[in-house]
Amino acid sequence: MRSQYLVKDLLKEITNTLNPYIPRASREAQLLLMAHLECDELWLITNQNTLLENLEELFAWVERRANNEPFEYIINKVSFYSEEFYIAPGALIPRPETEILIDEVLKRVPDKNAVLTFAEVGVGSGIISIMLALHLPNAKFIAVDISEAALAIAKINIEKFRLEDRIELRLGSLLEPVSEEIDYLVSNPPYIANDVFLESNLSYEPQNALFGGSIGDEIIQELLNEALKRNINFFTCEMGYDQQDKISHYLANKKYEALEFYKDYSGFDRGFSLRL
Ligand SMILES: C[S@@+](CC[C@H](N)C(=O)[O-])C[C@H]1O[C@@H](n2cnc3c(N)ncnc32)[C@H](O)[C@@H]1O
Repeated sequence: MRSQYLVKDLLKEITNTLNPYIPRASREAQLLLMAHLECDELWLITNQNTLLENLEELFAWVERRANNEPFEYIINKVSFYSEEFYIAPGALIPRPETEILIDEVLKRVPDKNAVLTFAEVGVGSGIISIMLALHLPNAKFIAVDISEAALAIAKINIEKFRLEDRIELRLGSLLEPVSEEIDYLVSNPPYIANDVFLESNLSYEPQNALFGGSIGDEIIQELLNEALKRNINFFTCEMGYDQQDKISHYLANKKYEALEFYKDYSGFDRGFSLRL
Protein backbone atom coordinates (compact mmCIF):
# COMPACT_ATOMS: atom_id res chain seq x y z
CA MET A 1 0.00 0.00 0.00
CA ARG A 2 1.28 3.47 -0.88
CA SER A 3 0.90 6.54 1.36
CA GLN A 4 -0.99 8.58 -1.25
CA TYR A 5 -3.69 7.61 -3.73
CA LEU A 6 -6.11 9.25 -6.13
CA VAL A 7 -9.66 8.33 -5.11
CA LYS A 8 -10.17 6.22 -8.26
CA ASP A 9 -6.93 4.27 -7.72
CA LEU A 10 -7.65 3.78 -4.03
CA LEU A 11 -11.08 2.32 -4.82
CA LYS A 12 -9.45 -0.14 -7.26
CA GLU A 13 -6.80 -1.10 -4.71
CA ILE A 14 -9.37 -1.75 -1.95
CA THR A 15 -11.63 -3.67 -4.35
CA ASN A 16 -8.71 -5.91 -5.37
CA THR A 17 -7.80 -6.53 -1.73
CA LEU A 18 -11.38 -7.46 -0.75
CA ASN A 19 -12.29 -9.39 -3.90
CA PRO A 20 -11.03 -12.85 -2.92
CA TYR A 21 -12.77 -12.70 0.47
CA ILE A 22 -16.16 -11.02 0.22
CA PRO A 23 -18.92 -10.55 -2.39
CA ARG A 24 -19.70 -7.05 -3.80
CA ALA A 25 -16.09 -5.98 -3.17
CA SER A 26 -16.35 -2.85 -5.30
CA ARG A 27 -19.43 -1.61 -3.41
CA GLU A 28 -17.82 -2.44 -0.07
CA ALA A 29 -14.74 -0.45 -1.13
CA GLN A 30 -16.95 2.59 -1.79
CA LEU A 31 -18.78 2.19 1.54
CA LEU A 32 -15.54 1.88 3.53
CA LEU A 33 -14.05 4.93 1.83
CA MET A 34 -17.22 6.98 2.33
CA ALA A 35 -17.28 6.03 6.03
CA HIS A 36 -13.58 6.90 6.39
CA LEU A 37 -13.93 10.28 4.67
CA GLU A 38 -17.41 10.89 6.13
CA CYS A 39 -18.51 11.87 2.63
CA ASP A 40 -21.48 10.92 0.48
CA GLU A 41 -21.62 9.07 -2.82
CA LEU A 42 -21.88 12.28 -4.87
CA TRP A 43 -18.57 13.51 -3.43
CA LEU A 44 -16.94 10.21 -4.27
CA ILE A 45 -18.20 10.28 -7.89
CA THR A 46 -17.18 13.89 -8.47
CA ASN A 47 -13.75 13.61 -6.79
CA GLN A 48 -12.21 10.64 -8.56
CA ASN A 49 -8.96 12.57 -9.16
CA THR A 50 -8.61 13.98 -5.63
CA LEU A 51 -5.38 12.97 -3.88
CA LEU A 52 -5.81 11.28 -0.49
CA GLU A 53 -3.27 10.58 2.25
CA ASN A 54 -3.23 9.49 5.93
CA LEU A 55 -4.85 6.21 4.99
CA GLU A 56 -3.52 3.93 7.75
CA GLU A 57 -6.87 3.68 9.56
CA LEU A 58 -8.66 2.91 6.29
CA PHE A 59 -6.20 0.14 5.40
CA ALA A 60 -6.69 -1.38 8.87
CA TRP A 61 -10.46 -1.33 8.22
CA VAL A 62 -9.95 -3.04 4.84
CA GLU A 63 -7.92 -5.79 6.48
CA ARG A 64 -10.64 -6.36 9.09
CA ARG A 65 -13.32 -6.47 6.37
CA ALA A 66 -11.21 -8.96 4.36
CA ASN A 67 -11.36 -11.15 7.48
CA ASN A 68 -15.17 -10.98 7.20
CA GLU A 69 -15.66 -8.80 10.27
CA PRO A 70 -19.07 -7.09 9.98
CA PHE A 71 -18.93 -3.63 8.39
CA GLU A 72 -20.88 -2.10 11.32
CA TYR A 73 -18.28 -3.18 13.90
CA ILE A 74 -15.51 -1.70 11.78
CA ILE A 75 -17.08 1.74 11.34
CA ASN A 76 -18.79 1.65 14.80
CA LYS A 77 -22.11 2.75 13.35
CA VAL A 78 -25.41 1.03 12.65
CA SER A 79 -28.70 2.31 11.38
CA PHE A 80 -31.91 1.17 13.07
CA TYR A 81 -35.42 2.54 12.67
CA SER A 82 -33.94 5.50 10.71
CA GLU A 83 -31.61 6.50 13.56
CA GLU A 84 -27.85 6.04 13.82
CA PHE A 85 -26.49 4.11 16.81
CA TYR A 86 -22.99 3.38 18.09
CA ILE A 87 -22.08 -0.30 17.83
CA ALA A 88 -18.98 -2.32 18.69
CA PRO A 89 -18.05 -5.96 19.27
CA GLY A 90 -19.69 -6.82 22.61
CA ALA A 91 -23.26 -6.10 21.49
CA LEU A 92 -25.34 -7.76 18.79
CA ILE A 93 -25.60 -5.76 15.56
CA PRO A 94 -29.27 -4.69 15.43
CA ARG A 95 -31.25 -6.50 12.73
CA PRO A 96 -33.88 -4.85 10.51
CA GLU A 97 -36.57 -7.33 11.64
CA THR A 98 -36.33 -5.99 15.20
CA GLU A 99 -37.89 -2.77 13.84
CA ILE A 100 -41.13 -4.77 13.55
CA LEU A 101 -41.00 -5.46 17.31
CA ILE A 102 -40.97 -1.68 17.92
CA ASP A 103 -44.10 -1.27 15.75
CA GLU A 104 -45.81 -4.20 17.48
CA VAL A 105 -45.25 -2.56 20.87
CA LEU A 106 -46.29 0.93 19.73
CA LYS A 107 -49.51 -0.51 18.26
CA ARG A 108 -50.43 -1.74 21.74
CA VAL A 109 -49.90 1.60 23.45
CA PRO A 110 -52.72 3.77 22.06
CA ASP A 111 -52.00 6.69 24.42
CA LYS A 112 -48.44 7.67 23.52
CA ASN A 113 -48.29 9.96 26.58
CA ALA A 114 -49.19 7.20 29.03
CA VAL A 115 -47.01 6.86 32.13
CA LEU A 116 -45.73 3.29 31.86
CA THR A 117 -42.90 1.20 33.24
CA PHE A 118 -41.19 -1.05 30.73
CA ALA A 119 -38.63 -3.75 31.37
CA GLU A 120 -36.37 -4.93 28.58
CA VAL A 121 -34.42 -8.17 28.98
CA GLY A 122 -31.29 -8.36 26.82
CA VAL A 123 -30.86 -4.66 26.04
CA GLY A 124 -27.70 -5.19 23.92
CA SER A 125 -26.86 -1.92 22.15
CA GLY A 126 -30.01 -0.31 23.56
CA ILE A 127 -31.94 0.08 20.31
CA ILE A 128 -35.31 -1.27 21.56
CA SER A 129 -35.58 0.73 24.79
CA ILE A 130 -34.20 3.84 23.07
CA MET A 131 -36.60 3.75 20.10
CA LEU A 132 -39.56 3.08 22.39
CA ALA A 133 -38.48 5.89 24.74
CA LEU A 134 -38.28 8.28 21.77
CA HIS A 135 -41.88 7.42 20.83
CA LEU A 136 -43.30 7.24 24.36
CA PRO A 137 -42.18 10.42 26.15
CA ASN A 138 -43.56 9.53 29.60
CA ALA A 139 -42.47 5.90 29.72
CA LYS A 140 -39.60 4.70 31.92
CA PHE A 141 -37.42 1.73 31.11
CA ILE A 142 -35.44 -0.74 33.19
CA ALA A 143 -33.08 -2.41 30.76
CA VAL A 144 -31.25 -5.58 31.81
CA ASP A 145 -28.36 -7.51 30.28
CA ILE A 146 -26.00 -10.21 31.53
CA SER A 147 -23.16 -8.70 29.53
CA GLU A 148 -21.17 -5.77 30.95
CA ALA A 149 -19.75 -5.11 27.48
CA ALA A 150 -23.26 -4.79 26.02
CA LEU A 151 -24.33 -2.46 28.86
CA ALA A 152 -21.32 -0.21 28.17
CA ILE A 153 -22.41 0.11 24.53
CA ALA A 154 -26.05 0.71 25.51
CA LYS A 155 -24.86 3.48 27.88
CA ILE A 156 -23.11 5.30 25.01
CA ASN A 157 -26.31 5.19 22.93
CA ILE A 158 -28.56 6.23 25.82
CA GLU A 159 -26.30 9.27 26.38
CA LYS A 160 -26.26 10.02 22.65
CA PHE A 161 -30.08 10.30 22.71
CA ARG A 162 -30.06 12.02 26.15
CA LEU A 163 -32.33 9.40 27.71
CA GLU A 164 -30.32 8.80 30.91
CA ASP A 165 -33.25 9.96 33.06
CA ARG A 166 -35.70 7.47 31.51
CA ILE A 167 -33.63 4.35 30.74
CA GLU A 168 -31.92 2.68 33.66
CA LEU A 169 -29.40 -0.07 32.89
CA ARG A 170 -29.02 -3.03 35.23
CA LEU A 171 -26.60 -5.94 35.13
CA GLY A 172 -28.14 -9.36 35.72
CA SER A 173 -30.04 -12.29 34.30
CA LEU A 174 -33.64 -12.13 33.03
CA LEU A 175 -35.81 -10.10 35.46
CA GLU A 176 -33.72 -10.90 38.54
CA PRO A 177 -32.53 -7.30 38.98
CA VAL A 178 -36.10 -5.92 38.61
CA SER A 179 -38.31 -5.84 41.71
CA GLU A 180 -40.56 -2.99 40.55
CA GLU A 181 -44.04 -3.50 39.12
CA ILE A 182 -43.81 -3.65 35.33
CA ASP A 183 -46.51 -2.71 32.82
CA TYR A 184 -44.82 -3.94 29.69
CA LEU A 185 -42.03 -6.50 29.13
CA VAL A 186 -40.08 -6.45 25.85
CA SER A 187 -37.26 -8.67 24.71
CA ASN A 188 -35.26 -9.81 21.74
CA PRO A 189 -33.58 -12.67 23.59
CA PRO A 190 -31.05 -15.15 22.25
CA TYR A 191 -33.20 -17.85 20.64
CA ILE A 192 -30.94 -20.00 18.43
CA ALA A 193 -30.27 -23.61 19.56
CA ASN A 194 -26.68 -24.11 20.78
CA ASP A 195 -25.81 -26.70 18.12
CA VAL A 196 -26.92 -24.65 15.07
CA PHE A 197 -23.98 -23.94 12.76
CA LEU A 198 -23.81 -20.22 11.89
CA GLU A 199 -22.09 -18.34 9.05
CA SER A 200 -18.53 -17.20 9.80
CA ASN A 201 -19.33 -13.47 10.05
CA LEU A 202 -21.66 -14.25 12.99
CA SER A 203 -18.65 -15.51 14.94
CA TYR A 204 -17.74 -11.85 15.58
CA GLU A 205 -20.96 -11.28 17.50
CA PRO A 206 -21.29 -12.19 21.19
CA GLN A 207 -22.35 -15.82 21.38
CA ASN A 208 -24.54 -15.21 24.43
CA ALA A 209 -26.56 -12.79 22.29
CA LEU A 210 -27.33 -15.54 19.77
CA PHE A 211 -27.63 -18.90 21.50
CA GLY A 212 -30.58 -19.47 23.83
CA GLY A 213 -29.90 -23.01 25.07
CA SER A 214 -29.90 -26.59 23.80
CA ILE A 215 -33.39 -26.20 22.32
CA GLY A 216 -33.17 -22.46 21.67
CA ASP A 217 -36.36 -21.18 23.30
CA GLU A 218 -35.32 -21.69 26.94
CA ILE A 219 -34.95 -17.98 27.68
CA ILE A 220 -38.29 -17.21 26.00
CA GLN A 221 -39.96 -19.80 28.26
CA GLU A 222 -38.37 -18.29 31.34
CA LEU A 223 -39.60 -14.86 30.29
CA LEU A 224 -43.11 -16.22 29.70
CA ASN A 225 -43.05 -17.67 33.21
CA GLU A 226 -41.96 -14.33 34.65
CA ALA A 227 -44.62 -12.42 32.70
CA LEU A 228 -47.34 -14.80 33.96
CA LYS A 229 -46.05 -14.86 37.52
CA ARG A 230 -45.73 -11.10 37.81
CA ASN A 231 -48.98 -10.44 35.96
CA ILE A 232 -47.32 -8.05 33.53
CA ASN A 233 -49.98 -6.51 31.21
CA PHE A 234 -48.12 -7.04 27.92
CA PHE A 235 -45.13 -8.99 26.74
CA THR A 236 -43.76 -8.55 23.20
CA CYS A 237 -40.88 -10.79 22.21
CA GLU A 238 -38.86 -11.73 19.14
CA MET A 239 -38.46 -15.46 18.46
CA GLY A 240 -37.06 -17.97 15.94
CA TYR A 241 -38.99 -18.72 12.72
CA ASP A 242 -39.77 -22.27 13.98
CA GLN A 243 -40.82 -21.51 17.56
CA GLN A 244 -44.49 -20.53 17.17
CA ASP A 245 -45.92 -24.00 17.82
CA LYS A 246 -43.77 -24.57 20.89
CA ILE A 247 -44.74 -21.21 22.38
CA SER A 248 -48.48 -21.79 21.71
CA HIS A 249 -48.16 -25.27 23.21
CA TYR A 250 -46.33 -23.94 26.26
CA LEU A 251 -49.10 -21.40 26.89
CA ALA A 252 -51.94 -23.85 26.22
CA ASN A 253 -52.88 -24.37 29.88
CA LYS A 254 -51.92 -20.92 31.12
CA LYS A 255 -54.22 -18.01 31.86
CA TYR A 256 -53.89 -15.05 29.47
CA GLU A 257 -56.13 -12.82 27.36
CA ALA A 258 -54.58 -12.88 23.89
CA LEU A 259 -51.58 -14.25 22.03
CA GLU A 260 -50.75 -12.81 18.61
CA PHE A 261 -47.80 -13.78 16.41
CA TYR A 262 -46.15 -11.52 13.84
CA LYS A 263 -43.98 -12.20 10.78
CA ASP A 264 -40.76 -10.60 9.53
CA TYR A 265 -40.15 -8.92 6.14
CA SER A 266 -39.46 -12.31 4.51
CA GLY A 267 -42.76 -13.76 5.76
CA PHE A 268 -41.20 -15.92 8.50
CA ASP A 269 -42.75 -16.10 11.97
CA ARG A 270 -40.60 -13.74 14.04
CA GLY A 271 -42.31 -12.79 17.30
CA PHE A 272 -45.39 -12.57 19.47
CA SER A 273 -47.31 -10.29 21.77
CA LEU A 274 -49.01 -11.69 24.84
CA ARG A 275 -51.75 -9.78 26.67
CA LEU A 276 -52.29 -10.96 30.21
C1 LIG B 1 -30.36 -11.01 20.54
S1 LIG B 1 -29.46 -9.90 21.60
C2 LIG B 1 -30.55 -8.49 21.53
C3 LIG B 1 -29.85 -7.17 21.68
C4 LIG B 1 -30.73 -5.96 21.39
N1 LIG B 1 -31.86 -5.87 22.28
C5 LIG B 1 -31.21 -6.02 19.95
O1 LIG B 1 -32.41 -6.29 19.72
O2 LIG B 1 -30.40 -5.81 19.04
C6 LIG B 1 -29.76 -10.65 23.16
C7 LIG B 1 -29.16 -9.93 24.37
O3 LIG B 1 -29.56 -10.68 25.53
C8 LIG B 1 -28.49 -10.74 26.44
N2 LIG B 1 -28.73 -11.91 27.30
C9 LIG B 1 -28.48 -13.22 27.06
N3 LIG B 1 -28.89 -13.98 28.09
C10 LIG B 1 -29.43 -13.13 29.01
C11 LIG B 1 -30.02 -13.32 30.28
N4 LIG B 1 -30.15 -14.52 30.83
N5 LIG B 1 -30.46 -12.22 30.96
C12 LIG B 1 -30.33 -10.98 30.43
N6 LIG B 1 -29.78 -10.75 29.21
C13 LIG B 1 -29.33 -11.81 28.51
C14 LIG B 1 -27.24 -10.82 25.57
O4 LIG B 1 -26.11 -10.40 26.28
C15 LIG B 1 -27.64 -9.90 24.41
O5 LIG B 1 -27.23 -8.57 24.65
